[in-house]
Amino acid sequence: MNAPAGSAVIETKGLTVSYGKKTVLDNVTFVAPEHRITAVLGPSGCGKTTLLNCLNALIREQPGAQVSGEVLLSGVSTRQFPLEELRRRVGMVTQTPTPFPFSIYKNITYAPKYYRSAKKADFDSLVREKLEMVGLYEEVSNRLNQSALSLSGGQQQRLCIARALTVEPEVLLLDEPCSALDVKATAKVESTLLSLKDRYSIIIVTHNIAQARRIADYAVFLNDGKLIEAAPAKQFFENPNEEATRSFLAGAFG
Ligand SMILES: Nc1ncnc2c1ncn2[C@@H]1O[C@H](COP(=O)(O)OP(=O)(O)OP(=O)(O)O)[C@@H](O)[C@H]1O
Ligand SMILES: [Mg+2]
Repeated sequence: MNAPAGSAVIETKGLTVSYGKKTVLDNVTFVAPEHRITAVLGPSGCGKTTLLNCLNALIREQPGAQVSGEVLLSGVSTRQFPLEELRRRVGMVTQTPTPFPFSIYKNITYAPKYYRSAKKADFDSLVREKLEMVGLYEEVSNRLNQSALSLSGGQQQRLCIARALTVEPEVLLLDEPCSALDVKATAKVESTLLSLKDRYSIIIVTHNIAQARRIADYAVFLNDGKLIEAAPAKQFFENPNEEATRSFLAGAFG
């Protein structure tokens, strides 16, 4: 494997997931570097979501999933962490925006209120800070008490990213976060992710090869549960080693 420069924030070793006799991830070993955007690519059904679900141990809640191999967070096996700590440190944003049916303000303060008590002024500044991080503050500052469901799809997705950041995760996992968004909303999510990587490490599953080219530092290609190639983005997109990667990038399948 072509190891990325920089230290690993997430690392898998021989990660294998099966349902009964069906192996959906087969001995996957890869490294996601710290403070970089890692894109996970591959055709539908190849195991991308399953891989993300292993990284924050959501897979443990999948009935029937048998998991072997290791997932390390900053060098420590995730089996060592209480689930609550792991999920705080490895946040997740899903494909369809899922704001809570509360106000914009309460979406941001919901998790921090659970983890700590703070004065209203502190929450006010947290709301502002996190909404600014995703470029949403100016758009919504005059309606923070309105329902989050009144936002557009793209705004909802950026709110969900802001919400995921309120517990200060180290890693942010995103599963096709732009698949329901138009080009303009997608561009805003992409610039948000680029601005966040100084502070967080990002792993994004995307169907959109052009998107991965625009934002990824490092890319991973899965096919049929197997890791085919993992490399720095420039090499991956311009000069992949594997014929299967080349065909995938050329649009031959997926
Ligand atoms: N709970 C389950 N029981 C049995 N098989 C499952 C289960 N969840 C996923 N699979 C199978 O695992 C394989 C990988 O699924 P996964 O959702 O990870 O693919 P994906 O790459 O995310 O696909 P897509 O691009 O369509 O989202 C598929 O063949 C799927 O049918
Ligand atoms: Mg998926």
